Amino acid sequence: MIKEQLESIRLEALKKIEQAADMSGVENVRVGVLGKKGELAGILKQLGKLSAEERPVVGQIANSVRAEIEKTIREKAEQLKAMEGEARLKAETIDVTMPGSPVCIGHEHPLDKVLDDVKEIFIGMGFDIASGPEVELDYYNFEALNIPKGHPARDTQDTFYISDNVVLRTQTSPVQIRIMEKQKPPIRAIAPGRVYRSDAVDATHSPIFHQIEGLVVDEGITMGDLKGCLMAFAKRLYGEETRIRLRPHHFPFTEPSCEMDVSCFRCGGKGCSMCKGEGWIEILGGGMVHPKVLKNGGIDPDKYSGFAFGLGLERLVMFKYSIDDMRLLYDNDVRFLGQF
Ligand code: DAH
Repeated sequence: MIKEQLESIRLEALKKIEQAADMSGVENVRVGVLGKKGELAGILKQLGKLSAEERPVVGQIANSVRAEIEKTIREKAEQLKAMEGEARLKAETIDVTMPGSPVCIGHEHPLDKVLDDVKEIFIGMGFDIASGPEVELDYYNFEALNIPKGHPARDTQDTFYISDNVVLRTQTSPVQIRIMEKQKPPIRAIAPGRVYRSDAVDATHSPIFHQIEGLVVDEGITMGDLKGCLMAFAKRLYGEETRIRLRPHHFPFTEPSCEMDVSCFRCGGKGCSMCKGEGWIEILGGGMVHPKVLKNGGIDPDKYSGFAFGLGLERLVMFKYSIDDMRLLYDNDVRFLGQF
């Protein structure tokens, strides 16, 4: 009777060990069968009821059952450990041939893109890149550029005044004076930068926008040099077939002054919605540097002459990419920027 119980405990235990999925399953079997209050202990308590001859025989069987179960548990434990290690290795494997996860790369802003194009063209013609302060003295922004206090040209530039003598520069032209103060001819420089005017925001206006100033001063510089230089610039920027035209204009700091149009690069001059049927698009103002301005820069107007020009970067960008609302350039909507 006890022998049969031992045999069924043995079989049952071996089966449970075999089926255990992990170490805690194995441990349950160990405690349930071999533990202090386990099945085997329960059997051994009954040994006293047996006869003196039977007792050692059954005791031996019980011992061998215990030994077999212990051995099986050890083997199972080793097997489980090996499996665990294998599973961990598999999970930790790195397939170095897998493609990497895509990295999101930013886009160059269209204003920067076109500014880079413009810089490269002028650097190619031997120009330096200059800069000046955005918080500027009234003297540089107006006075030295032949726009004295009370001059009507001041009214056209809705100026942010910081104090009587300090303004947010309304144009990049003050950099002309700063360049001439520091450097003697020959001078060839462009000065890109931010400018400020108290304008309400709409599709074509912003209180902050960008200009690119140009200045060339040397002996014998003429209007022909201005035209040749700006023609080369326009052709590089918009294509070889581009034509330019100069129209008389007035700026206080140039004499004579002009505005420059380029043939419409969309319709080639026939007239379209971009050029409003004109065939021409105005891109800059310029002229021969006024003798007074040369003098204010410390340069002798009897010996030297020069030309200057100023263009609006936003206008260039908007025409180049057919953008009809300037606000798109400042909103920084990634759906817009992602197109460049
Ligand atoms: N500063 C002028 C403006 O903001 C643009 C300009 C015109 C600049 C003629 C020049 C120039 O250097 O010669 O409207």
